[in-house]
Amino acid sequence: MTARIIDGKALSATIKAEVAKRVEQLKEAGTTPGLAVVLVGEDAASQVYVRNKIAACEKAGLHSRNIHLAIDAPEEQLLDVVRDLNRDDTIHGILVQLPLPAHMNAARVIETISAQKDVDGFHVSNAGRLMTGRPLFRPCTPYGIMKMLESEKVVLRGAEAVIVGASNIVGKPMALLLLAAGATITLCNTKTRDLAAQTRRADVLVVATGKPGMITGDMIKPGAVIIDVGINRRADGKLTGDVDFESASQVASAITPVPGGVGPMTIAMLLVNTVEAAERNAATLV
Ligand code: GUN
Repeated sequence: MTARIIDGKALSATIKAEVAKRVEQLKEAGTTPGLAVVLVGEDAASQVYVRNKIAACEKAGLHSRNIHLAIDAPEEQLLDVVRDLNRDDTIHGILVQLPLPAHMNAARVIETISAQKDVDGFHVSNAGRLMTGRPLFRPCTPYGIMKMLESEKVVLRGAEAVIVGASNIVGKPMALLLLAAGATITLCNTKTRDLAAQTRRADVLVVATGKPGMITGDMIKPGAVIIDVGINRRADGKLTGDVDFESASQVASAITPVPGGVGPMTIAMLLVNTVEAAERNAATLV
């Protein structure tokens, strides 16, 4: 079997075009949706992600603000920036790019973001809402993956879904979204014994570990749908995922590429969440 490629770039373009229409409607009604992206330090990968997010905003007609703090900025300075953005009526979404430098308490920073502007969906209140089935903002990467599975018409009700990687950003919210869609969830972590025994049961396998090529074709059930969240830079400068594409695509029925799979979807869903925040805000003003 040679797997079908799930084209995240194409699907994200469709979603971004829909966002652009909603932005137009909001503008006609007097609101320009605004996203603030805050970056602390000089991490090369984070700089690329932030640049891509700002560029996507501009293309879809959103207003964006890019705030850059020095790597040694005190946490209180970042908290003040967030508090100012909370009060700013032109900003509907606030994103603080992670990871933060070690001297900062990421949980405290995220808790300071207004839950109504937390377009990442990382605030405890939004995490709790997701867990109890009343999400306000779904975290962008798992949300984008759900859109990909939907567009591929993958049947989730009763399916075995295995997630490798249990982060707050991807693994845990992914498990909740798949659970809500009726899948049976296995959430693996770094201590999981005999990982291959788990991954081989998966009808849908989501991998978010940051370990290049760790999932190989022999760890995959024939016909499975493979979602590769990893974005790793190889020694030759090329990007590669957490799944060994070569061997996995011989066994899977469908697979996301890296680049051009999950990455573009994350950005598209950030725009969706920001427009939703602006729409909700506009609705409270009428
Ligand atoms: N770092 C890696 N992914 C993300 C994300 O989705 N949001 C933020 N804020 N930081 C990240």
